[in-house]
Amino acid sequence: MDKIVVLDFGSQYSHLICRRVRDSNVYCELVPYNLPLDKIMDLDPKGIIFSGGPASVYAKDSPKPDSKIFEAGIPILGICYGHQLIIDHYNGKIKRVDKREYGNSSLEISDKTNLFRNIQSDTLKCWMSHSDAAEILPEGFKILGKTNSSFSAAIGNNERKVFGLQFHPEVAHTESGDIILNNFAKVISRASPEWSMTNFVETITNEIKSKTKDERVLCAVSGGIDSTTCAVLISKAIKNNLKCVFVDNGLLRENEKETVQEIFNEKLKIPLSVVDASERFQKKLEKITDPEVKRKKIGEEFARVFTEFAENEGPFHWLAQGTLYPDVIESGVSGGPATVIKTHHNVGGLPEWLHLKVLEPLRFLYKDEVRNVARILGIPQDILNRHPFPGPGLAVRIIGEVTPEKIRIVRRASKIVEDILIEDKLYDKVWQAFAIVGDDRAVGILGDERLEARIVTIRVMESVDAMTADWVRLPNDTLEKISSRITNEIENVAWVTYAISSKPPSTIEPQ
Ligand code: XMP
Repeated sequence: MDKIVVLDFGSQYSHLICRRVRDSNVYCELVPYNLPLDKIMDLDPKGIIFSGGPASVYAKDSPKPDSKIFEAGIPILGICYGHQLIIDHYNGKIKRVDKREYGNSSLEISDKTNLFRNIQSDTLKCWMSHSDAAEILPEGFKILGKTNSSFSAAIGNNERKVFGLQFHPEVAHTESGDIILNNFAKVISRASPEWSMTNFVETITNEIKSKTKDERVLCAVSGGIDSTTCAVLISKAIKNNLKCVFVDNGLLRENEKETVQEIFNEKLKIPLSVVDASERFQKKLEKITDPEVKRKKIGEEFARVFTEFAENEGPFHWLAQGTLYPDVIESGVSGGPATVIKTHHNVGGLPEWLHLKVLEPLRFLYKDEVRNVARILGIPQDILNRHPFPGPGLAVRIIGEVTPEKIRIVRRASKIVEDILIEDKLYDKVWQAFAIVGDDRAVGILGDERLEARIVTIRVMESVDAMTADWVRLPNDTLEKISSRITNEIENVAWVTYAISSKPPSTIEPQ
């Protein structure tokens, strides 16, 4: 399949470039910036994009690509830092600007023959984020567009098919950025648009079949979209050689086990084994208050339960996981977009001692591509639209020790929040909505009686990728309904509060 390769110089937008190129149905992969040319040629790219990055081309040890890449005859597009690499390589000159340019600028287009083909307007709003800019353009390069502060915001050498953009075409703030990337991929690099989720389903099903042959596959499912899509794909390919297991750790949403059972057994017609391990998890969590220790204990116990299942029901040869592309690819320079603030203990951390081969059919996909695959496979709407739920479950929504009483409160309160948001047609508009409980108590009145009861906090967040998030300004009526239903229906709760902290500085889950 024709493809474009993105060299990752550590920009927070590297994945986005890849994602946007795929939007034009051209397959795109992200690779480290320093991949040697012969390895890049093995990938047989039709075009290469240099991402942005935090470095300055003149800094000591600044990341540089294999210099032979410029002579390989493959079209190149440099974005931001990538643009400066091109100028530097062809002996132009970069200078540090007095003021870092950050935000929207207006681009005046002066050439519409290649990158800006099919763009109607002569000016575009474009997103800038840089502290270096070209001072002298290299020979052979032409200015294709400029902004007030950058005379060479877009440059190109048509013979060599090398282009540079000071701004970021991949972000939504840049007008017609999709057309620019589409022009680079299809017109300049002549890549055929062969990437579609329908093709993907067909290819991956055949691949799963030929990889696993007659061997047995074990897949842990959580009811989330990734593990469900993974299971459905494998089941389509190998039917009875797949075993799906769902572990009830006692920290699930209300009716979760029943819902997942119904979806698998009745709607998807994939038999599901359920392991009830609630008591084991509860025991492991006794007296534990530290959030990281909680996460660790839950991860370890999950691995134990899973191993026992694999041994009792085995032998299995493969372990299937719903790992996605961003988890597979580490960012070239920055080592990933975020440092670890919380250890995520999911199905991904399953024990190596099982010695199973790993099957990851979604490892080339982004989340919204998985959604499309799920739609194609007929996975029910309830799963497609569900909010994400953390691997360690309600334990990360309980501050302090995880006790049966706090689980009962947080589970019921979360269900009330979800139900009211669905009722008020807000559920699909927010990223996550749930309740939190801790050990704080406040005074209330029940009938004529004074009582000291627990405080429940409501958290409703909007976000695009969970890296940053903002609290949702819910209508007062919705808040009022949530509050009165929680205090009326849940024993030992007298106060309801609303969390109004964004991420950062807070995180979405409290633990
Ligand atoms: P934080 O709390 O880090 O959460 O802002 C960001 C997103 O990740 C989810 N989350 C998890 N998901 N396993 C998961 O699968 C985990 O251990 C975990 N911890 C947090 C959280 O719900 C939010 O969507």
